[in-house]
Amino acid sequence: MSDAADETPTPIDVPNDASLMEKIVNLSKRRGFVFPSAEIYGGFRSTYDYGPIGVQLLRNVKDAWWRAMVQMRDDVVGLDAAILSPPAIWEASGHLKNFTDPLVDCRNCHERFRQDQLEDPSTCPNCGAKDSFTEARQFNLMFKTHAGPVESDAAVAYLRPETAQGMFVNFANVLQSSRKKPPFGIAQIGKSFRNEITPGNFVFRTREFEQMELEFFVPPDEADRWYEYWVDARYQWYVDLGIPTEKLRIRPHDADELSHYSSGTSDVEFLFPWGWGELEGIANRGDYDLTQHATHSGEKLDYFDQANGTRYTPHVIEPAAGATRTMMAFLLAAYDEEEVRGETRTVLRLHPRLAPYKVAVLPLSKKDTLTPRAREVLAMLQPHVMCDYDETQAIGRRYRRQDELGTPYCVTVDFDSLEDDAVTVRERDSMAQDRVKVDELLGYLLPKLA
Ligand code: GAP
Repeated sequence: MSDAADETPTPIDVPNDASLMEKIVNLSKRRGFVFPSAEIYGGFRSTYDYGPIGVQLLRNVKDAWWRAMVQMRDDVVGLDAAILSPPAIWEASGHLKNFTDPLVDCRNCHERFRQDQLEDPSTCPNCGAKDSFTEARQFNLMFKTHAGPVESDAAVAYLRPETAQGMFVNFANVLQSSRKKPPFGIAQIGKSFRNEITPGNFVFRTREFEQMELEFFVPPDEADRWYEYWVDARYQWYVDLGIPTEKLRIRPHDADELSHYSSGTSDVEFLFPWGWGELEGIANRGDYDLTQHATHSGEKLDYFDQANGTRYTPHVIEPAAGATRTMMAFLLAAYDEEEVRGETRTVLRLHPRLAPYKVAVLPLSKKDTLTPRAREVLAMLQPHVMCDYDETQAIGRRYRRQDELGTPYCVTVDFDSLEDDAVTVRERDSMAQDRVKVDELLGYLLPKLA
C-alpha cells in the first residue's frame, strides 16, 4: 500500500562537524524545533524560541529527568522556587562577589571578549590589533532588575543565575513538611539567566536557559560514596536515553579548577561538532551552602538525628544539568541520514520517550470515506500519547516528514481499513510495516513507547 515496502536503506556517514550543526539549525527552523527569538525584528542576541516540535522535545527531556530523579525515587522531592530573588541570597551564596568573568575591550574595534577565552591574550581575534586590550574588569553575570515601581537600591532584585539556591533556602521548609531525612534530595527544573559575554553555538550557551538540578543532602561521612553514586547514575541517564557511549565521557575536574568549597566535581561531557562540551556537572559541595545561608539568615539549617542524638549540617552532592543544552545533544546524537532509492532520508532516531510525537495518524488519501475512520483512530490514541494528524501530500512525503520529527510510529488508515478494521503501522528506524487490528492497536503501540 505504500512506497516503503521494498526500500533497502544504505547508511550515509554523517560527519560530526560544522556541517552537522548547520543541518540541525536548518532542520530546527524548517520543522519547528527552535526559532531565533524576535526573528521578525532581526533576532535578539542569541535568544531562541522553542517551536511546536521543540517545546515537546524539551518537555520530554525534562519529564525524563523528573521521572528518573523524582518519580522513581522515594528519597527525592520536587520544588519550584521563584526566579526573582533578593540580593541577600546572592550575597550569601557568593554570587555577588564571585560570579564574574574577566572582560576586556579592544581599543581598536571596541569588541568585547572574555579574557580567559582568548587564544592569544595580546591579539584581538576580531580586528587583529596587537596589545589593544583594556585592563580586565570583573563583569558580574547576574541580570539585575528592580522589584516595584521605584528604581532604588532597596528595590534591587536579581534573576536567578542557577536554580540551586532555591533548594538551599527552602531546606528547612522541605525538611519539616516532607518528613524526609538525610540522605534525601530536592529537585528543581526551571529557567536561569546569565548575562554571558559570549553566548553561542546555537542553544549551547544562551543568556536565558533551563536547568535541571538536584541538591542531595547527606550525612558528612557518606558524601564521597554518594558523589560516586550520582556521577555513575547521571552518566547512565544519558546512555539509557540513547546517547552513544563514544560521544559521552566523564571528566573529573583538576584540583585547580575546583571551586574553593568543592572537594570533587566531574562533568558529563558530550562530543559536540566543535569538541567536548559540558552537559552537566556533579559537585561534592560539602556543607558550604547550608552553612553560608545559616550564617547570613540567622536560621538553623541543620539536621538533628534522633537515632543517635547528634546535630549536623548535611553535605551536598549536586548533579546540575542544562535542559536546553541537553536537548541539543539529544538532537545531534539522533540525527541520521541514509539513502533510500536514490534519495536521502533524514531521520531523527530519538528514544521514544523523547520523541515529540509518538504516533502520526495518516489517512492514505484525503477522502471523505477515510477521514472519519482516521479521526476515530486518532481520538483513541490521543488520551494515551502525543499524536500528529496529517492528511496533506503523498504518503511517502508524510512518512519523510515524520522521520525528520523523530516520530517512532506512523499509523496509516487505507481503504482496506474500512473492510478489515486494521491499519498499517510503520516503524521509523527500520521502516518495517505491520498490519494491526484497530482494537489491538493500543496494546501493540504502548509497550513499545514506554
Ligand atoms: N548550581 C550549579 C550550576 O549552576 P553550572 O555548571 O554553572 O552549575 C549547570 O550549570 C548546567 O547548566 C551546565 O552544565 C549547563 O548544562 C547548563 N548551563 C549553564 N550555563 C548555561 C548557558 N549559558 N546556556 C545554556 N546552558 C547553560
